[in-house]
Amino acid sequence: MKMKAGRSQLKPVLLFVIFNLCFYASYQLTDLKVCELCSGTILNGTTVGQFCSSSAGRIDGRCCLRNSNTSDYEHIIGLDLSNCSLTHVEELQGASTALMIDLSLNPIANISGTAFQGFIELNYMILPQDIVCPGGNTSWEKVEVKEGNRLCEGQKDTCNQTGQLSINCPENSLCAPYGPGFFECSCAENYHGYKCLREGEFPALQVFGPLGASMVVISLLLWVTQRRKAKSL
Ligand SMILES: *[C@@H]1O[C@H](CO)[C@@H](O)[C@H](O)[C@H]1NC(C)=O
Ligand SMILES: *[C@@H]1O[C@H](CO)[C@@H](O)[C@H](O)[C@H]1NC(C)=O
Ligand SMILES: *[C@@H]1O[C@H](CO)[C@@H](O)[C@H](O)[C@H]1NC(C)=O
Ligand SMILES: *[C@@H]1O[C@H](CO)[C@@H](O)[C@H](O)[C@H]1NC(C)=O
Repeated sequence: MKMKAGRSQLKPVLLFVIFNLCFYASYQLTDLKVCELCSGTILNGTTVGQFCSSSAGRIDGRCCLRNSNTSDYEHIIGLDLSNCSLTHVEELQGASTALMIDLSLNPIANISGTAFQGFIELNYMILPQDIVCPGGNTSWEKVEVKEGNRLCEGQKDTCNQTGQLSINCPENSLCAPYGPGFFECSCAENYHGYKCLREGEFPALQVFGPLGASMVVISLLLWVTQRRKAKSL
């Protein structure tokens, strides 16, 4: 009887460890995928290479990795996918922590409108000349064309743009940047639910979308429709 009690106490601990291992493994895998998207590694002389050595990062394939201040795992701070025959850019999974991304020398035909959603740290991009900066010129402090590349420098805070349509998050929610041209409205403390109208625990992510008040409305409508559907099921 004593043995049995001991074992059942051990189980949750084991499960927790296994869960953590799986989580850690899957995190690493996602990371590796984007770093191995193109062959070769980042070269010393390139913009991302120089940025990486000056940031005391570690090069792994096409990624520059560095430990975060708050946790002990490495995350991507630089991504160099230049000269690798990319024609379409969609999700760059695991790279949303990047400060610098180089997509130059690629025959890019299109970039998904949401490819850089959530890339709040992104502050420097190198693109082929004919590709516009994500979120458009207004999402960046400086846009210039140089040596056949387009440079997008200094991501602007989408929540704080004078002369633009002001972003009105629903009452009891706050606007926060969410990548170039994107923002999110998250419920203020103690509010949750549709339009953050309910008071209580569980502050929940509410709305996020590209610049433009109409998109907020559309997102809200979609969300309500989905909820109705979910309820009627
Ligand atoms: C790149 O630079 C680092 C540090 O300066 C050096 O250790 C390494 O050998 C260089 N690699 C190449 C391929 O030049
Ligand atoms: C691009 O890649 C090709 C083939 O891998 C190589 O021959 C060429 O020198 C590269 N160009 C640049 C500018 O790095
Ligand atoms: C964005 O900025 C670039 C570089 O200054 C300029 O060439 C381009 O015309 C601008 N695009 C728009 C839509 O304003
Ligand atoms: C909003 O933008 C203005 C001008 O660009 C800047 O001076 C101000 O510090 C910004 N405010 C915040 C909260 O970022």
